[in-house]
Amino acid sequence: MDDALLERLRAALGTEHVLTADADVAPYAVDWTGQHRGRPAAVVRPRTTAEVAEAVRACHEAGVPVVPQGGNTGLVAGGVPDASGTEVVLSLGRLRAVRDLDVVAGTLTVEAGVVLADVQAAAAGAGRLFPLSLGSEGSCTIGGNLATNAGGTAVLRYGMTRDLVLGLEVVLPDGRVWDGLRGLRKDNTGYDLARLFVGSEGTLGIITAAVLRLLPATPARATAWVAVPDAGSAVALLDVVQRRAGVHLSTFELVSRTALDLVLSHLPGAADPSREPTPWAVLVELAGAEGTDLDPELEDALAEAVETGLVRDAAVAGSPAQRAALWALREGISEAQRAEGATLKHDVTLPIGDLAAWVERVGPVVQEILPGVRLVTYGHVGDGNLHYNLSAPPGDDGALRSHAAELTAAVLDSVAAAGGSISAEHGLGRTRAAAAASYKSDVELDLMRAVKAALDPAGLMNPGVLLPPAGG
Ligand code: FAD
Ligand code: MLT
Ligand code: ZN
Repeated sequence: MDDALLERLRAALGTEHVLTADADVAPYAVDWTGQHRGRPAAVVRPRTTAEVAEAVRACHEAGVPVVPQGGNTGLVAGGVPDASGTEVVLSLGRLRAVRDLDVVAGTLTVEAGVVLADVQAAAAGAGRLFPLSLGSEGSCTIGGNLATNAGGTAVLRYGMTRDLVLGLEVVLPDGRVWDGLRGLRKDNTGYDLARLFVGSEGTLGIITAAVLRLLPATPARATAWVAVPDAGSAVALLDVVQRRAGVHLSTFELVSRTALDLVLSHLPGAADPSREPTPWAVLVELAGAEGTDLDPELEDALAEAVETGLVRDAAVAGSPAQRAALWALREGISEAQRAEGATLKHDVTLPIGDLAAWVERVGPVVQEILPGVRLVTYGHVGDGNLHYNLSAPPGDDGALRSHAAELTAAVLDSVAAAGGSISAEHGLGRTRAAAAASYKSDVELDLMRAVKAALDPAGLMNPGVLLPPAGG
């Protein structure tokens, strides 16, 4: 990498925050799955918005591409560099200040590198709720959540990250700073720039801070692990719980037997809450204000569902420890699948009315391509979002890798044919950029390219992520 640029970065950030040695850059070069490895020209670790701006300006003037990175928990290789050795990784991990908390206005202003669990804790400390909740919340950053428009386990009640943000501060690709840190609930003064940056995966600029919406706290909980015979019964149960529990329904997560078995074999102390194994289970949670008695709503819903044959068995958490144990079964799936070996992830949305039939249709197609492939199906079924993840036939990771392209094409084609989305909540990154482009209309692609060209005419912000490289 150009010595003059390195010197300029060192002068701006301090020598110890410009990493170039192989051992130092290694953790920033590989993604959470371990399946995507790049080669950074350098890793820079600014501490303030001004330092981010100076680093980006320096790279822009030198014509060097920049890859923003938060907690590096992304699942589509959007935050790791390519293998060219020419890209600078800009880590937001040192921008960790909580800048402001306004309880009356219901806003929290945080810097991009604040870990999601710390955002939740800051809200809870003020008696409020920041409802975004992901299995990775102990290490993903709010900047990464905004950049990916993350979803998680409470979307059916509170929406995606985009629904939880009011204003942003962004360093633009040429190093200028856009101060859009407004906490106004009403602001119809033109294009919604903040929401344009949400979900842009680091391709339009670097989010350095955000004003987030806080909600009333919901410490009352009722949680159950519900055994169901098939995915169709799970969808029918969703209707029952929505009718009985109304706005209290916060989480409705589907888990297949294959996914649960992986957790049971990899998570120490994990136990199946159901009396007899069923092919599917649902984690249901209701949440309400302090003092709300949610148990009757949950029990009424479950009683109706048992009577109509939708539900075989239900374990209702009787204590915070039991609740945590049920959640661990759901949240442990990604880790358990990673421990099992190679993984092929498909994060898809189906129209909910077709979800169960789609599961029945696509399974045999996938099995025909790779007999014995394991369908680690689970997800946020309340949002129509399935993680249709595949694991290799036991001990045969090579087979999964060699059939990966064919398997993914079959799954994604079938999602597109059903009118679904090939990326529900993880974004496109490097792994899904080309596929998404192939399913979008020319008009939609033209609009996306026009936005990219307007904000990043030199094409230096996270090239190859979200939109495929030119001619690619
Ligand atoms: P990174 O992985 O560092 O980056 C992700 C993308 O955002 C990259 O394109 C990067 O360039 C860009 N980026 C990061 N920070 C910035 C910034 N400040 N400005 C501009 N661009 C930036 N995702 C869900 O949506 N729902 C889930 O339920 C969920 N569960 C998960 C469970 C596990 C166990 C794991 C490992 C991941 C899970 N994820 C989930 C995926 C991941 O945690 C989210 O995508 C998360 O939002 C990424 O945050 P991060 O800070 O780790 O971002
Ligand atoms: C989850 O909901 O657990 C993740 O988004 C899915 C994954 O790791 O593929
Ligand atoms: Zn998910």
